[in-house]
Amino acid sequence: MEQPPHPPVRVERRAVDERESRQANGPDWDRYADEYQATHGEFLGDTGFLWGPEGVTEAELGILGPVEGRDVLEVGSGAGQCSRWVRTRGGRGYGLDLSFRQLQHGLRIDEESGVAVPSVLGTATALPFAAASFDVVFCSFGALQFIADLDVAVAEVARVLRPGGRFAFSITHPTRWMFPDDPGPEGLVASQSYWDRTPYVEVDEATGRVSYVEHHRTLGDWVAVLARHDFRITDLAEPEWPEGHERVWGGWSRTRGRFTPGTAIFGADLAGP
Ligand SMILES: C[S@@+](CC[C@H](N)C(=O)[O-])C[C@H]1O[C@@H](n2cnc3c(N)ncnc32)[C@H](O)[C@@H]1O
Repeated sequence: MEQPPHPPVRVERRAVDERESRQANGPDWDRYADEYQATHGEFLGDTGFLWGPEGVTEAELGILGPVEGRDVLEVGSGAGQCSRWVRTRGGRGYGLDLSFRQLQHGLRIDEESGVAVPSVLGTATALPFAAASFDVVFCSFGALQFIADLDVAVAEVARVLRPGGRFAFSITHPTRWMFPDDPGPEGLVASQSYWDRTPYVEVDEATGRVSYVEHHRTLGDWVAVLARHDFRITDLAEPEWPEGHERVWGGWSRTRGRFTPGTAIFGADLAGP
């Protein structure tokens, strides 16, 4: 299936609600999926679990806890690379993503790798699963920063987790919001307020429609939303840029990674039985 090219856009900062965020980001990920998988697929690894552009893996960090014999849901699963890793470790990994095209890439890799991840099209704010279905829910840069109604999404995670279940996710490190998304030295000069939560918005020049949205929360916002939904935070990993890692991914590079964290990885336990 040939994907239409990205339309010319202008960048704005303004309020965007959940419906508009979803209507923009679903088609945007459909348009971007081929390029995303062609550019990053090899680095991600068909059965690999990376937490972010630094290349730090779940095998190194162990933030999910044991997955063997457990029901594990990946929200914003893309082509399911991380969930495939979960399956190779004996977990029952399942995927959910807003983008049909990302899921199509998942099916392709299921076939090529021989490790299949049952996955559904859906949104993090309305998980199509019964309460208490999973032992672990995670997102590796998936869904959370594309969502306006973060409280709804975290409530959904709490609902589908069994008591005492584990929630882990990686996001762009909140402090990055202060800097231009530039992998070079320009990206080290703070130019906007850390506390300004106004979303980053791309608007299609031709139609005036919002075509991409990212939402920002401070570290304190993340702590508060987890606490509101009965999670106890156990981990906040901020991977340092590894020696010898020269790969540039968007605004992530050695130039910036030497000085500022690019990824935050939270681990939290839902209140127990
Ligand atoms: C940066 S990709 C990460 C995917 C995968 N974890 C990886 O490492 O390649 C973000 C994914 O989140 C998905 N996404 C965006 N908004 C979402 C939403 N509201 N619900 C579920 N998935 C969403 C996108 O379609 C995309 O596949």
